[in-house]
Amino acid sequence: MRSGIGGPLRLGIVGLGRAAAQLLPSVAAHPHVVPAAGADPDPAARARFAADFGAPAFEDAESLCAHGGIDAVYVATPHQLHAGDVAVAAAHGKHVIVEKPMALTLDDCNAMTAAARRHGIVLIVGPTHGMDPAVERMREIIASGELGQLRMIVNLNYGDFLYRPRRPEELETARGGGIVYNQIPHQIEIARVLDRGPLRSVRAVAGAWDPQRPTEGAMTALLEFEDGVAASLTYSGYDHFDSDELNGWIGELGDERNAGNHGASRRALRALRGADADGEAGGEAAAHAESRIKAASGFAGRGMMRLAGGTAHQPHFGFLLVSCDGGDMRASPDGVLVYGEDGVRELPLPPGRAYPNKDRVLDELYDAVAHGVAPLHDGAWGTETVAATLALLRSARDRREIVLDALVSHGECSNVTRGE
Ligand SMILES: NC(=O)c1ccc[n+]([C@@H]2O[C@H](COP(=O)([O-])OP(=O)(O)OC[C@H]3O[C@@H](n4cnc5c(N)ncnc54)[C@H](O)[C@@H]3O)[C@@H](O)[C@H]2O)c1
Repeated sequence: MRSGIGGPLRLGIVGLGRAAAQLLPSVAAHPHVVPAAGADPDPAARARFAADFGAPAFEDAESLCAHGGIDAVYVATPHQLHAGDVAVAAAHGKHVIVEKPMALTLDDCNAMTAAARRHGIVLIVGPTHGMDPAVERMREIIASGELGQLRMIVNLNYGDFLYRPRRPEELETARGGGIVYNQIPHQIEIARVLDRGPLRSVRAVAGAWDPQRPTEGAMTALLEFEDGVAASLTYSGYDHFDSDELNGWIGELGDERNAGNHGASRRALRALRGADADGEAGGEAAAHAESRIKAASGFAGRGMMRLAGGTAHQPHFGFLLVSCDGGDMRASPDGVLVYGEDGVRELPLPPGRAYPNKDRVLDELYDAVAHGVAPLHDGAWGTETVAATLALLRSARDRREIVLDALVSHGECSNVTRGE
């Protein structure tokens, strides 16, 4: 007998774009969660939601939450709207999953956590690649002690992030654009899930190498946890090398990709912007066209993003190698490779119901609401990842190590750093 709700958990989806298109297969496949309502200012997205799920669609979070038929909302609007949408949901007593990054400032993060507490709702931040089954399996191995003390984490991801069609704010750091706000949180979360302790300090070097996409497209960073564990994180979204080459051309969501399609997103974007090499051709018109293409590639244009044939392989975030005293572990396309004293063995992982990391965030919400299980990825957790993200940006800008305030771990801190 479940507690907390009297039937399936009815989920409202606020923001019917690409993120929603990726989560919806997991919602549709979940044994205890149903898609019950949608919200988006785009009439095409609303019409598709109503047609695909036979459920009502509204213009915004307020009207969706005022509608009686939902228990929880998934906030997948652009970052700058997360804090307001979560405040609306909490005020209506709806549980929340909010996409990463939780918000763009620690003040907003703290306000969201406080609102959740005040209104007695569950607040979960995600999904991220920290929820990948391979990362969770590695964490279990670390916690079991069989490989001894965790020492070092290496994650490297190269792809086409900066050249996929973008909204204008996604190319402006001050408005949450670039890879540091959008992609590095996956790497921070992988490291944090593996270590679980507070971060001590970060040092980063970031690159904004393309004046036509004037935001960070690359970063390399060193994170040190309080326990001395180090995480080396490198990311490039410049669409030259593609690290899926190191993973048998299995894509981020576990999809099978065509090998050797390097630079395809750059070429498509160049065609969109016109032959003019300096990129001025089209200017604002090209930016609008890019936004429209992004919208068309999301839920409004294509519906939910099903993987052909289901999830054949494991989701991942590039090359992940974890070192302990007694061995190393590497995420593989179908499991975890463990390199111990007696050679290497592979621990296979079962396929998910849809996208395994997205299944996980729904499980975490359901378990919290129905069974009172405290979620790992709560407001305080999400706040610390935002704090680390902001510290990385500051470190890159100031060219120095930034020491994080340990109080951030408890979700109560409004400043990023100490000792300045
Ligand atoms: N966890 C992941 O792997 C992942 C993947 C993609 C995106 N995201 C996150 O999801 C969020 C959305 O990104 P996206 O790429 O899906 O963007 P998107 O532009 O594809 O989708 C955003 C949607 O929100 C809608 N919207 C705008 N204002 C709204 C409002 N007031 N109320 C309701 N809907 C509104 C837009 O019309 C659009 O359909 C971002 O925070 C992003 O970081 C996370």
